[in-house]
Amino acid sequence: MSLRLGDTAPNFTAQTTEGEINFYDFIGNGWAILFSHPADFTPVCTTELGKTALLQEEFAKRNVKVLAVSIDPLDKHFEWRKDINETQHCTVGFPIIADADRNVATLYDMIHPNASATATVRSLFVIGPDKLVKLMIIYPASTGRNFYEVLRVVDSLQLTAGFSVATPADWKSGEDVIVVPAVSTEDAIKKFPKGVKVVKPYLRYTPQPNL
Ligand code: BEZ
Repeated sequence: MSLRLGDTAPNFTAQTTEGEINFYDFIGNGWAILFSHPADFTPVCTTELGKTALLQEEFAKRNVKVLAVSIDPLDKHFEWRKDINETQHCTVGFPIIADADRNVATLYDMIHPNASATATVRSLFVIGPDKLVKLMIIYPASTGRNFYEVLRVVDSLQLTAGFSVATPADWKSGEDVIVVPAVSTEDAIKKFPKGVKVVKPYLRYTPQPNL
């Protein structure tokens, strides 16, 4: 059965370029991103893993560990990683799972047979410290993902996990956020000392509370 938001992320043990990993141990008390790509030695995937490596500090700042997966074997991953580092001017420091038996791909429903019978699509899951699925995005093989968007969503997820706020369209860290409907305006004024701007009774903004 496919996963949905709020579901418990399935645990697994897998062989990776950084040794054997138990997913829950890997996540620890932080956040994780598990993302699949169709195959090693392919152009879009090369740029995606390179971009992720270049943004490694940004993920670390947010206490997010990254774990890539494809169904290619470890020896191919090691060879391909050299190409990624060379062509994308980076050092891939995150593990890449060799999912030859498709255990992870199956658990996370990463093979969409009408897109490709054998290759994983571009699935990306953000998992919280509670091991619940917080975000799922699925792209086709031909479209590389926007990893700045992934960071932006992580910022939103981490903010909304700690405060009774939501984030508006195109929000970026530092901009005003939305008071959730469950909080009355009277309570919002007490809860958010930086102020509450009421545009409509259901549309209320406050400055980002954790800055
Ligand atoms: C790629 O990663 O470049 C790719 C993989 C499968 C189809 C198209 C592009």
